[in-house]
Amino acid sequence: MYTTAFLDLPPLLEAGGAVRLPGSKSISNRVLLLAGLSEGTTVVHDLLASDDTRVMLESLRLLGCDIQQSGDTVHITGLGGKLAVFKAELFLGNAGTAMRPLTAALAVLSATQGGMFELSGIPRMHERPIGDLVDALRPLGCDIECLGKEGYPPLRLRGGKLNLTAPIRVRGDVSSQFLTALLLALPLVTQDRALTIEVEGELISKPYIEITLNLLARFGIQVQREGWARFIIPQGCRYQSPGEIHVEADASSASYFIAAGAIAGIKEAVRVEGVGAASIQGDIRFVDAAQAMGAQVTSGPNWLEIRRGTWPLKAVDMDCNHIPDAAMTLAVMAMYAEGTTRLRNIASWRVKETDRIAAMACELRKLGATVVEGQDFIEVTPPAGAWQHATIHTYDDHRMAMCFSLAAFSPLAPKAPGQNISVRIDDPRCVGKTFPDYFETLFQVAQTNLDLIPVITIDGPTASGKGTLASALATRLGYKFLDSGSLYRVTALAAVSRSVSTDDEAGLEQLARKIGRELTLRFEAHHVWLDGCDVSDELRREVIGQTASKISAYPGVRQALVELQLSFRGMPGLVADGRDMGTVIFPDAGLKVFLTATVKERAERRYNQLISKGISANLEKICADLEARDLRDRTRAISPLVPATDARLLDNSALTIDQSVDTVLGWWVDGWPHVLVKS
Ligand code: C5P
Repeated sequence: MYTTAFLDLPPLLEAGGAVRLPGSKSISNRVLLLAGLSEGTTVVHDLLASDDTRVMLESLRLLGCDIQQSGDTVHITGLGGKLAVFKAELFLGNAGTAMRPLTAALAVLSATQGGMFELSGIPRMHERPIGDLVDALRPLGCDIECLGKEGYPPLRLRGGKLNLTAPIRVRGDVSSQFLTALLLALPLVTQDRALTIEVEGELISKPYIEITLNLLARFGIQVQREGWARFIIPQGCRYQSPGEIHVEADASSASYFIAAGAIAGIKEAVRVEGVGAASIQGDIRFVDAAQAMGAQVTSGPNWLEIRRGTWPLKAVDMDCNHIPDAAMTLAVMAMYAEGTTRLRNIASWRVKETDRIAAMACELRKLGATVVEGQDFIEVTPPAGAWQHATIHTYDDHRMAMCFSLAAFSPLAPKAPGQNISVRIDDPRCVGKTFPDYFETLFQVAQTNLDLIPVITIDGPTASGKGTLASALATRLGYKFLDSGSLYRVTALAAVSRSVSTDDEAGLEQLARKIGRELTLRFEAHHVWLDGCDVSDELRREVIGQTASKISAYPGVRQALVELQLSFRGMPGLVADGRDMGTVIFPDAGLKVFLTATVKERAERRYNQLISKGISANLEKICADLEARDLRDRTRAISPLVPATDARLLDNSALTIDQSVDTVLGWWVDGWPHVLVKS
């Protein structure tokens, strides 16, 4: 997950290949509860890992279900409709999909079998209404006490005596989750009679009730419905585990990849695995909308393949009430269409994470679109000429961030190789609400030319602080990081441990060619693994640095490491530090920095470093070593240490690390994206 202040996306040219998306939250928590109420063991595959599913699993565990988890597969041995624990306090975080159904299930179970349960959550949960559900359950004889404000959690459920002869009524116009809760719970008490639930008011979010009915059927319970007003649960229901069940991937999340295929699936299709034609999620209807705009879609029960069909896309005029979340993706697809796209009946956008109609209009205009917004519609006409570079504000709304990432496929002309940013997404971490690894997943299917991926190089002499600066920059930008010195050190270490002489150029070259190939190399959180061993500490030894300095003067060794260094260039960008990053390895870098500090300053830094590690050191000797190493680096025949002609010099003798980072970040942000339209 990217936790940077902003994320710059390079221009994306094509899309192709397969992705597996995280599981649907709605399905995950329903399946967990159904498995927990069933007899026998259910194996749940592809469960969504999120806060909401974690609290449901924890509650089921406290209620006595046996739960074994490995990765995203969970084995749940359910209660078979009988309470195993008669007293428990359940903490449900902010998970409405856990609070509502658990309330209903435990209310009817404790009313028939005895028991006392308290259900609570975080403060925000205690502001979310549950009164309609409580009002539906109390007339049945459930003893429910609101411990704080009437109509809100926390709740205490305490026995009672069920009387199921009265009609069961629930309001359907505030949240469909109350009806879902009753539908999931009431099969527990159908021993004597069939039960009928009557919905009062117009039922909203019908696709979610369909998910509930569908999953109930998978667990052996066939509910009959009369329109959307009456639901009849037959007499003598028993939850039966289906044995194994797969959680579908989230259909709303799929919309971004369907759009990527429609826009850029040119040579290859984008394949979405885990959700398909047989999906029970309402947002799967986004496929029809994408097809209407020109996408070519083929599908199987749990997969989709999407290619570019009509191009440019076709503008559409569409009622999107049935797919409000996924329809946001259409608004960005409209930028790639010929003509004006009108999305109607989307008033609910105004009351979501943010006012999505206003937010969408504002950000699309930054890209150059003409947008008309109404109370319940939006009209998008793409720019007549070139798109504009823009910084997209995301309003703490995961869908804004994911939608606007698709603008990276825009036909913006590259400004200069290595220096391209097509769109800047503010606060990318907001995708964590439903899809923490969204951008990583996008980068799996997005393709671009290597020279369009931005690179920043930081070169300079020994102990100038390049590594610290470069890695801090990479962290701030969410970019990849190459510490090229470590590759020379790794080669030196391999030479020392294999007794290859520092005079044997051919032998050293041969060894260098094996790095990253036969000798596997892995960088992970400040650790370096060579051939399966953590060599991080050994690499920092002074003797290894000296050996690296010697062997790096051999042209054969340098050449052998070129390809490995180039392979670090990847989306969304790279910060590379070394001696020849800007001059030899990445001459097309968008920003080249040559970092220096006085010898005295550098020697003192190295001295303090050694002392703080408990290693004895001599300042004069360090000074002499640094000078010798600098001289060798500067005067070697190949790739000598010199600033690139277009490098910016930074003497950090008097700067703190943060000041250096801010200076370079300022150069980067001001130097290239002067064309970005600020929020
Ligand atoms: O940067 P570091 O001190 O880890 O690098 C070890 C040695 O590798 C340096 O002293 C330098 O001689 C060599 N080197 C190089 N070119 C690079 C990076 C490091 O010659 N790009």
